[in-house]
Amino acid sequence: MDYNKKNVEDIDVSGKKVIVRCDFNVPQDETGRITDDKRIVAALPTIKYLLEHNAAVILCSHLGRPKGEVNMKYSLAPVAERLGELLGKQIKLAKDVVGEDAKRLAAEVKPGEAVMLENVRFEKGETKNDPALAKAFADMADIYVNDAFGTAHRAHASTAGIADYLPAVCGYLINKEISIMGKALANPARPFVAILGGAKVSDKIGVINNLIEKCDTIIIGGGMAYTFMKAQGGKIGTSLCEEDKLDLANGLVKKAEEKGVKLLLPIDNVCADHFAADAEPVVYGAGELPDNMMGLDIGPKTIELFSNAVKDAGTVVWNGPMGVFEFDAFAVGTKAVAKAIASSNAVSIIGGGDSAAAVEKLGFADKMTHISTGGGASLEFLEGLELPGIACLNDK
Ligand code: 3PG
Repeated sequence: MDYNKKNVEDIDVSGKKVIVRCDFNVPQDETGRITDDKRIVAALPTIKYLLEHNAAVILCSHLGRPKGEVNMKYSLAPVAERLGELLGKQIKLAKDVVGEDAKRLAAEVKPGEAVMLENVRFEKGETKNDPALAKAFADMADIYVNDAFGTAHRAHASTAGIADYLPAVCGYLINKEISIMGKALANPARPFVAILGGAKVSDKIGVINNLIEKCDTIIIGGGMAYTFMKAQGGKIGTSLCEEDKLDLANGLVKKAEEKGVKLLLPIDNVCADHFAADAEPVVYGAGELPDNMMGLDIGPKTIELFSNAVKDAGTVVWNGPMGVFEFDAFAVGTKAVAKAIASSNAVSIIGGGDSAAAVEKLGFADKMTHISTGGGASLEFLEGLELPGIACLNDK
């Protein structure tokens, strides 16, 4: 998808009330403490730009899935506090989303200051993209800025509907995400290698279909590889398999062949007789698993095969782990692939979600060109789908 959207620098924000949709959906522990503030840090360039250019900033976001009910477990209070620390100024949080308190704070906020609304998903109309709610957000401001890349695949009141009522531009984060990933897809340095993993083929059909048109090599690992192996007549024991996707898997292999795209599947697997962190790892050739064994990671020969394919790549896009990386004994393949990408000279783009978490956990984050802040959003972008939270913004 080729976007050419206006951004914060294309509009005069001085003295204006600017409502900014961020993705502050951050992980928290049981006590509510934020365990990873990257999404808050990623929103700073836009917020700082607006404050420095004399805008009165009204921030909003969702956190979790409170399903239209007020539930203080999902309050943005910890986010407002963390953002205040990062900015070195207090961020007042409204007690509601578009109620009296929100309206009062939005009316009072001065140029160079920022306030925050409560979790937009406390309102039932948010996920339904209710025009009345979208208008209520818009009524508080003069300009709408969307910087919530992680939520750009949702057509919700604060991510899309609101753009019907205000001049609408993107922030620096959305701009960065779409320009780096957009360039990789439209004009990649070659060879262009895509590494796709994760549990289900069904989640990745769209991405594989889109990338087959653009890549030189597609590497398939993770749980979904077993569906491909079974489709090709392999024995996969008790490994994950989507029985209803066997034909589709074969169809994708055929399509890759027709397009001259190299499609690499695992040639060996690290397996165990049950799913547990302390299960005994045993290596078998791919498609040769005993009936009682499940594949939980790629094996050493596969690591070599995949690492070699990555070594001389010009561009690498990675989405989805190679195995059950949450268990140390089965994280070896994911770690090795992360290391191979980190040590290559390729432009490296890590789709959000599990692969981003794996790269962070394994300590390779600063070796990658770009780690997307969007899980579902980056996947839909790589599928070539239109993202409603970006499509709704004003063209340049
Ligand atoms: C995410 O974490 O992927 C985004 O914040 C979107 O959240 P959602 O899947 O609840 O819409």
